[in-house]
Amino acid sequence: MLWLGTSFKMTKTRAEAAAYAARLKEAVGDGVEGVRPFVIPSATAIATVADTLGRDSPALVGAQNTHWADSGAWTGEISVPQAADAGARLIEIGHSERRAHFGESDATVRLKTAAVLRHGLVPLVCVGESEETRAAGMASATAAVLAQAAAALDGAANPRHVLIAYEPLWAIGEHGREPRPQDIAPVLAELAQLPVRGVLYGGSVNEGNAAGLLRLPGVDGLFVGRAAWDAEAYVRLLAMAAS
Ligand code: 13P
Repeated sequence: MLWLGTSFKMTKTRAEAAAYAARLKEAVGDGVEGVRPFVIPSATAIATVADTLGRDSPALVGAQNTHWADSGAWTGEISVPQAADAGARLIEIGHSERRAHFGESDATVRLKTAAVLRHGLVPLVCVGESEETRAAGMASATAAVLAQAAAALDGAANPRHVLIAYEPLWAIGEHGREPRPQDIAPVLAELAQLPVRGVLYGGSVNEGNAAGLLRLPGVDGLFVGRAAWDAEAYVRLLAMAAS
């Protein structure tokens, strides 16, 4: 089973997310052969997307972040039970944008991973090395990524339910570089040794490079940003992954 999903990051109104979800529902029908689609909208649109897709849709809806506590005085935060109540079945944790701009650390990633597992949702834990770490060589990149993954899984009751997304910082977003296979294959091969549910690649994935990335050993799927924000483009990526 290949995982192929997208995070909308901080884009789309509820109306835009609903239109996207309606197109996706039509495209996935009862399921996409060999592919598990997932969509991670902003918190405001989780329920919109989940309700539009239908609660038993083969496409999973996710949240981009969570708090580790179930409830309490944590202004501005959303808990796993709240995200699940809105329709989320998967929760993204530790994206590099959250680590860089919002103080997310290996310690909070570990707490959040444990909380998601406790409630039976799928944690999608993002790991990836910085440009500077990569410049120091493959060994330092691999060590940094494995350390992040180990921190997330530390003490996890059931690591086999965890998805890891390898997203090197130098490959993500508008200023990201498309990876060459030799840049990422050694790291993916190491991550593939972990006792987890699957390892996804993310960062500058597009319709031109997706098939090649999916063929890399150790890759169980792709986590796409910009190239899947248009529903038609995402549907084409799903069809490509299915073939
Ligand atoms: P891009 O595909 O836009 O580079 O973003 C990847 C990403 O950060 C997915 O979480």
